This record gives sequence, structure tokens and C-alpha cells, in this order.
Amino acid sequence: MEIRPLSSHTGAEVLGIDFAGAVAPEDRDSMRRAFVERSVLVVRNQALTPAQLLETVGLFGTVFPQHNTRFALSECPQIHYISNEDRFPDGRRYIPGEGWHTDHSNATRPPKATVLHAVNLPDEGGDTQFANLAAAYTALPSAVRDRIALLLGIHVYQSSHSTRKLMALNEADQERVPNAVLHPLVRTHPESGVPSIYINPIRIEGILGLDHKEALPLLDDLLDHATAERFQYRHRWQPGDLVMWDNRCLLHKANGDYDMNQRRYLYRVMLQGDVPR
Ligand code: SIN
Repeated sequence: MEIRPLSSHTGAEVLGIDFAGAVAPEDRDSMRRAFVERSVLVVRNQALTPAQLLETVGLFGTVFPQHNTRFALSECPQIHYISNEDRFPDGRRYIPGEGWHTDHSNATRPPKATVLHAVNLPDEGGDTQFANLAAAYTALPSAVRDRIALLLGIHVYQSSHSTRKLMALNEADQERVPNAVLHPLVRTHPESGVPSIYINPIRIEGILGLDHKEALPLLDDLLDHATAERFQYRHRWQPGDLVMWDNRCLLHKANGDYDMNQRRYLYRVMLQGDVPR
């Protein structure tokens, strides 16, 4: 097995491993370390069934129950799918993951990682972009770091300020899914000890104790800063890719910039995380 960096700050590519077979403990440990150090792990040339994917992610953690069960695979409901073939009730195409976000931050213990495994890809486009929130935090002026140090973001299922609308939850999911949880605007990675910004434009409704006139421009400024190109790694998908990213220190977004007559379909699974601190 070989692990190679994909950019100066984010992403590592893993070659020479087949998750359909047995994984040696030393290879598993190297991948776990690389995941914490590089935040995005790209494992090439996999061809996993949903059941094999479930077994594979067990090497890295425990499955986190995703919020909207309409995307669950019937044969393996812990695995969901991402597809460009779903539509909103009004007929508009639904592109999951468009717009910068971190996954399910309205949970008390949001998922530490999300894993996607490519099943069908368009010939061109449909990249996933990642923004490194730890690098962005380090580059903040110290006055901004001081200003946000003790602030708490209010995270809900769907922020009323977000232009990106999520697919509605059914009644059972609504009862199960938490709404309005508080998380710090600056969190410390539980494994590396590295601090990062923690924001989520689709789910942050406001900042505790600040009125919107103050909170919303601050959140916009943090987002602009954090998503500058110098903090980004852009993943160009290859057939067989399995990509696992760290939601504790990254924002990500999908791109709906490809020929919509071509199918883009990936398996998706998340791993349980900790309470952000
Ligand atoms: C997601 O946000 O989970 C989906 C990302 C993608 O489809 O590229």
C-alpha cells in the first residue's frame, strides 16, 4: 500500500489496497493516521457492494444514522445514495450537496466522517471541493480569532438564511432528527488537537447572544475567508474512487456543472463523531 499527498495541505491518495479483501492492521493504522493528518483520503480502484462498503467503513468507525431516510438503499439502509436523478416535488432537479457545508451539524454529535464511493460518474465535471477550516483558522487575524473564540453557532436542520434548500424530511425522520443545537464556532480536533473554524451555511441559523445584524455578516466573512482557493482541495473523481473526508475540519460542496443526461451516482455513508468542543 502507498499513500501520497494530493495537495500541500489536504488530501492523500491511497494505492495498492483492495477493500474487498482483508486489510492488514498496519495498513488500517496508516490510513487512520493519514486521514487525521490529511483530512481527505482517496482510495483508488475499489468496486464494493453496499455490504462490502459497510464492512470497509467499520475499519474507521461506527456508522452514523443519516437524517433523510428517503435516500437509504433498500437492500442496505445504512448506506444512502447521492444521485442527480432525484427531483423536488415541484419537478426541479435535486443536486445533493451543492453549496459549502459540513455534514449533519444539527446533530449533537455530528458525523466525524463521510464516505462516498463512486458507482457512476459523468465523463467530465461533478468534482467535490473541500475547504480546510484548520488552515483557514490559522490564517485568521488574531483579532478575529479572539472575537469568535467563545461564540456558539445555532445549528438547525435547514437554515432560513440558506439559498440551498434540502429535501424535506418525512414525519418519522422529523421526530428523530435534532433541531437547534449549539456548537462552538471554533472547535478543536479531538484526534489531532488542531483548532478550526466550525460553520455551516445551510444549517447555521445564528450565533447565540448576537442579533442577526451582527451574526450574519460575521458568518459570511468567515465563509469567504475559509473558502478562499488557497485553502481548497478539489477532488476530480475517477472510476472506483472511495473518498472519506473529515467533517470536523472541512467544508465541502458538490458541483452540478456536468451533462445532466449522464448519471452521477455514489454510495454514501457517515461515521459517528464527538460533541464538538
Ligand atoms: C455531499 O455533500 O455529501 C455530496 C458531495 C458530492 O456529491 O460531491
